[in-house]
Amino acid sequence: MHKIKAIIKNLLTEFLYKIQKNRQVVANKPSDVHLSVTDNCCLRCKMCDIWKLKEKQKDLDYQTAKKIIDRLVKWLDNDFQLTFAGGEPFLNKDFIKIISYAHQKGIKTSTNSNAYIINKALAKKIIKSGLTQIFFSVDGLAKEHNFIRGRQDSFQKIVEAIDYLQKEKVGKNSPKIFINTVISNNNYQLIKKIIYFAKKQKVSGINFQALMPNFAGDYKSDWFKSNPFWPKDKKKVVKIIEELIKLKKKQPDFILNSTHDLKNFMNFFADPKLFQETETCLVGFNNFMVDTTGNMRLCYEMGTVGNLLKENPEKLWKSKTASMHRKKIVKCKRPCKLLPCNNLQIINWLKKLFPLN
Ligand SMILES: C[S@@+](CC[C@H](N)C(=O)[O-])C[C@H]1O[C@@H](n2cnc3c(N)ncnc32)[C@H](O)[C@@H]1O
Ligand code: SF4
Ligand code: SF4
Repeated sequence: MHKIKAIIKNLLTEFLYKIQKNRQVVANKPSDVHLSVTDNCCLRCKMCDIWKLKEKQKDLDYQTAKKIIDRLVKWLDNDFQLTFAGGEPFLNKDFIKIISYAHQKGIKTSTNSNAYIINKALAKKIIKSGLTQIFFSVDGLAKEHNFIRGRQDSFQKIVEAIDYLQKEKVGKNSPKIFINTVISNNNYQLIKKIIYFAKKQKVSGINFQALMPNFAGDYKSDWFKSNPFWPKDKKKVVKIIEELIKLKKKQPDFILNSTHDLKNFMNFFADPKLFQETETCLVGFNNFMVDTTGNMRLCYEMGTVGNLLKENPEKLWKSKTASMHRKKIVKCKRPCKLLPCNNLQIINWLKKLFPLN
């Protein structure tokens, strides 16, 4: 049954994308909010510059988080997904309390983690917090993962964290565990083995992401030419994504990306310049991000549309500033339109109809 639902969801995604992409509809009420909890990180990954940030924001504290969540709930009820972003979210000392508060309000919560500081005690707290889902970043098997993540024990920490969460699990409230893999030159030949690893760990599924220019780094439109992790052999990587599309057919519920996503990856790896110049970004049409001081942004590269602790969030969402930002967004020529936050309301309806959890 699960598999049949996944097949229907996959077919509908492709069909509905085609229809809605051209209409560029701004959701009346967005269904995804990204809340930053920290800029700090305990790893020094080679494909991410977040840890190099010179001007870091203060971590989100519990009192501010409560106010932000209350403002969101007043506007959206609990009918949205709250994704906690970082840095490494678990470095925030108030993080568990913040998740619990969102959970008490009935909000579905999600986060990505490098697992590095998750020990048995923290795993117990995560389970108790009511976190809905957690994505562990796995960028290869041990050798490749440890290389790109810059720490020899970082792969082992993932295995341990999954194990702790699975062993300490109590009933329905345990978070669903997923793996998130960034496809790069460092690992594209290993995709099948990474899927096998995910299955062996008994996680609920795996999501792939294409390599982007280093987060928080300087941007150049031909970034891929000088990025050491950009797949060197175009033909080989395209072939491997084709195989991944076939695997999606066989395991539609375990591989989370839609066929539509995977075809986009193929086009992107085949011709990044063409892809980033011709695809339309729709970030900020169904989602937004909030920083640790309550500033609302539609795209992380753009200025704030206002502070939702000082102004009405709904008015900010529908403001002239927001619509000016959206005009820029649809013309943007960067590649991050491939990231999962670039979703459409219609796709979120599908996610509700066919939830992961
Ligand atoms: C910025 S991290 C923050 C959460 C956590 N520190 C982690 O690594 O999972 C969020 C996600 O972005 C991914 N990421 C980092 N650098 C990337 C890049 N250059 N391109 C695509 N994804 C990237 C990470 O692998 C991770 O899954
Ligand atoms: S990808 Fe995650 S773990 Fe790695 S440096 Fe960036 S924020 Fe830290
Ligand atoms: S592609 Fe979209 S998300 Fe990326 S910088 Fe441009 S507007 Fe922002």
